[in-house]
Amino acid sequence: MSRFSDKVVVVTGASAGIGRAASLRFASEGASVVAVDMKEETLNETVALIETAGGKAHAVVADVTVSSQVENYITQATDVFGGVDVLFNNAGIEGHVAPLENYDEEMFDKVLQVNVKGVWLGMRHVVDALRLRGGGNIVNTASGAGLMATPTLVAYGASKHAVIGMTKTAAIELAPAGIRVNAVCPGVVNTRMIRSIEEMSIPEDPEEYTKMTNERVPLGRYAEPEEIAGLVAFLASDEAAYITGSSYLIDGGIILS
Ligand SMILES: NC(=O)c1ccc[n+]([C@@H]2O[C@H](COP(=O)([O-])OP(=O)(O)OC[C@H]3O[C@@H](n4cnc5c(N)ncnc54)[C@H](O)[C@@H]3O)[C@@H](O)[C@H]2O)c1
Repeated sequence: MSRFSDKVVVVTGASAGIGRAASLRFASEGASVVAVDMKEETLNETVALIETAGGKAHAVVADVTVSSQVENYITQATDVFGGVDVLFNNAGIEGHVAPLENYDEEMFDKVLQVNVKGVWLGMRHVVDALRLRGGGNIVNTASGAGLMATPTLVAYGASKHAVIGMTKTAAIELAPAGIRVNAVCPGVVNTRMIRSIEEMSIPEDPEEYTKMTNERVPLGRYAEPEEIAGLVAFLASDEAAYITGSSYLIDGGIILS
């Protein structure tokens, strides 16, 4: 398949997990990938993996909460590959695990900075580049936590509800420019983030968290990041040409349980 031949795809949070899997997926389908993350070493590993597989990629070290650095990753995409067609706005952090009355105030602000402001800044700075191409796509990473209650993850849940809200607003504002905007809502995915939540939730026995969660998931397991990447690629492709403003749950059925 080469749904993204001649397309330039920017992926944030590309050093690891879902962002790395999506970077590899887009590149395998012909895209030139601009891989963005604040962790340089692992970001370069993502680019090396793409290049070894015969794909094209360029790394930009950036903190998605800093407007000038967001502007720079879009500028670099244009300078290196000639424009931008897709933004996968995926970088995020989990914050702490704590009851809301004990939740650390600084951490609350940090989670909203990265997960909400970072997503908004990405959309804000990519719009002109997408307009220059006559349209394009934005896929934001929300979460099942954007649709249901997340006890002990108050900031994370708030931030992911906000991502879904911004996705709807952006979809309406940008539709006349031929820009579609959608969100993916993963449940539990086998990445560093879920390991961190497991360890904070049951420090004495993190594997117990995995076991309890798997029992709640009708399909009985965590998702692999590559499975989320497949949905992201679909939403960013022409096969999804009539989809905008939607939030796609990919959670093994956990929301039903
Ligand atoms: N893993 C899950 O179970 C799960 C479930 C639902 C949603 N998500 C969401 O998926 C997205 C990717 O998470 P993941 O599971 O791959 O986790 P991860 O921790 O493996 O990857 C997140 C990446 O984002 C980067 N990042 C964090 N803050 C950044 C910043 N300020 N600037 C630039 N890069 C930054 C990190 O360096 C890391 O490479 C996140 O938005 C997360 O909330 C994850």
